[in-house]
Amino acid sequence: MKTLCLYYTRTNTTKEVIETIAQTIGADVAQYTDGKDRKGILGYVGACFATVNNVISKVSVKGEIDLRSYERIIIGMPVWAEGPCAIGRALIKKYFNEIPAEVYYVVTHMGEKNDYMMKIKAMDELLGKPSAGYVSIRTKDNDYIRESRTFAETLI
Ligand SMILES: Cc1cc2nc3c(=O)[nH]c(=O)nc-3n(C[C@H](O)[C@H](O)[C@H](O)COP(=O)(O)O)c2cc1C
Repeated sequence: MKTLCLYYTRTNTTKEVIETIAQTIGADVAQYTDGKDRKGILGYVGACFATVNNVISKVSVKGEIDLRSYERIIIGMPVWAEGPCAIGRALIKKYFNEIPAEVYYVVTHMGEKNDYMMKIKAMDELLGKPSAGYVSIRTKDNDYIRESRTFAETLI
């Protein structure tokens, strides 16, 4: 099944998770971004503000990627302010017409809480169709690479 794994990352964790998943299932990988430098404390504050106020004005997938040429897409996004980051939501809003039928969401987060079901459901509404599945992966004090691989193995 031709699969594309997409990720947004600020500190490379979601990148690692998505690259592990892509390697495990033999998928292509691409990064999406809003083009803003969100490093450091100012970047952190800006990211919180953008998520709470939902004010991402532009987002794009890097490289020459035609989303329509894939049968399955896995979208990785870090949790910001208790929900998938605003940049991930902006991606879905922008590309909903091009995203194939089978979509999975992978959210990475630091905290113990891992039930982001309500927020994932909100993304289903944005996309206009239910996702085929999702996983939320805790990154702190957790072997998140092993967990990513375990999730990926369910997709083979
Ligand atoms: C602005 C901001 C808000 C965050 N809010 C949360 C949160 O509410 N809950 C949580 O568990 N982690 C939160 N985190 C931590 C990230 O979700 C976590 O470190 C993630 O794996 C980072 O992915 P990245 O390295 O790909 O950017 C937040 C991080 C940032 C930058």
